[in-house]
Amino acid sequence: MMSKEVFEKYESNVRSYCRKWPVVMKSAKGSYYTDVDGKKYIDFFDGAGALNYGHNPDFIKERILEYIESDGITHSLDMFADSKEKFISYFEENYLIPKGLEYKIMFTGPTGTNSVEAALKLARKVTGRSEVWAFMGAFHGMSLGALSLTTERYARGGAGVKLTDVTHIPTPDYIDGFDTIKYMRTILDDDHSGIEKPAAIIIETVQAEGGINVFSVDFLKELRKLCDDYDIILIVDDVQVGCSRTGTFFSFERAGIVPDMVCLSKSIGGYGLPFALTLVKEEYDKFGPGEHNGTFRGSQISIVAAKAGLELNKLEKVDEKVKEKEQIVKDYLEKEIKPLLDENETYRGIGLIWGICFKDGKLSRAVLDKCFEKGLIIELAGRGDSVLKILPSLLIENETLLKGLNIIKESIIEVKNQ
Ligand SMILES: Cc1ncc(COP(=O)(O)O)c(C=O)c1O
Repeated sequence: MMSKEVFEKYESNVRSYCRKWPVVMKSAKGSYYTDVDGKKYIDFFDGAGALNYGHNPDFIKERILEYIESDGITHSLDMFADSKEKFISYFEENYLIPKGLEYKIMFTGPTGTNSVEAALKLARKVTGRSEVWAFMGAFHGMSLGALSLTTERYARGGAGVKLTDVTHIPTPDYIDGFDTIKYMRTILDDDHSGIEKPAAIIIETVQAEGGINVFSVDFLKELRKLCDDYDIILIVDDVQVGCSRTGTFFSFERAGIVPDMVCLSKSIGGYGLPFALTLVKEEYDKFGPGEHNGTFRGSQISIVAAKAGLELNKLEKVDEKVKEKEQIVKDYLEKEIKPLLDENETYRGIGLIWGICFKDGKLSRAVLDKCFEKGLIIELAGRGDSVLKILPSLLIENETLLKGLNIIKESIIEVKNQ
């Protein structure tokens, strides 16, 4: 049986990314995949944001191998463990405390959706309110609580039950001139709005799956103020755009705000290993022992990789690199891509997350297919999948970055000239 046929015959129909890139990958290093036939692909997908330091970075790999070689504990639930003590101390002393962030660290199940579920449950518990507000275009995960926040119709359709206790709020760009903050303040003040005061408002400072929608600094500041004024918990979901993706370790740093809870997963695992945290202000750290339990709340190998990832981030001065590469992408999009776009098409982004917004999903998909043919792995996002999403490793070499951007340019030219 051909290796691809194995997947078609035995793997569930739910498989998805392999349908866009139907090759069997064998190895990966830095910003390149290699398939079983030896063909190389530049990676502009980055494991959906789980590989901010690229594939198999040596610095992290060596620490994982050393740890395994020494028979370090692999699994111990949340017993005290040496590797975990080292991670917590390092994260607090080198990231949280210097940034003036006083958070308790909750180790949740290992995926982004687990981190979001923990934040939701906790916000509801401490406030005694069930309602949560999320923004239209949001993606927060696929388990039921997180899915109730996620807006995509197709994803919600898989729930099989009513997705309740969430109100979705239009974003500032939803309708021309819409004032989201005024709208929220109005419905909170209006005793006839029919909308309950929420326990929490959850936001991705840059909606990633939603099509690279960047919330402005002013908006984020005003949202923080609104949450303070009405005693609402502010949750920032930094699962995809945290870990330096936007040019600062936490995406909310650019707005100078401090959320009450922060969801982290994906690249906090350093090496693409499953790992998630929910950071919580001490006053909200109200779960009793074991009240939000789970078997895989931080496996030690992920924890070792996570600490090494944090060290590598500092060693490589990743935030500075992102700012430098952001300029490269921005200039390229302005000079080389914009002239190829129609009037109602555009590009947008921040740091190393950018979207080229096509007029429809047919066009974006044709560009994706062409990119793949030319050796570039790149994903779609947004309404109707109409946004081509540029999400490279934060350590991508500038030459490879430009090579990938050139593939996009050539692909757009070929597709538009067909
Ligand atoms: C912002 C955000 N939150 C949560 C999730 C869910 O993470 P996971 O797929 O690991 O459950 C994602 C996944 O893409 C995400 O982008």
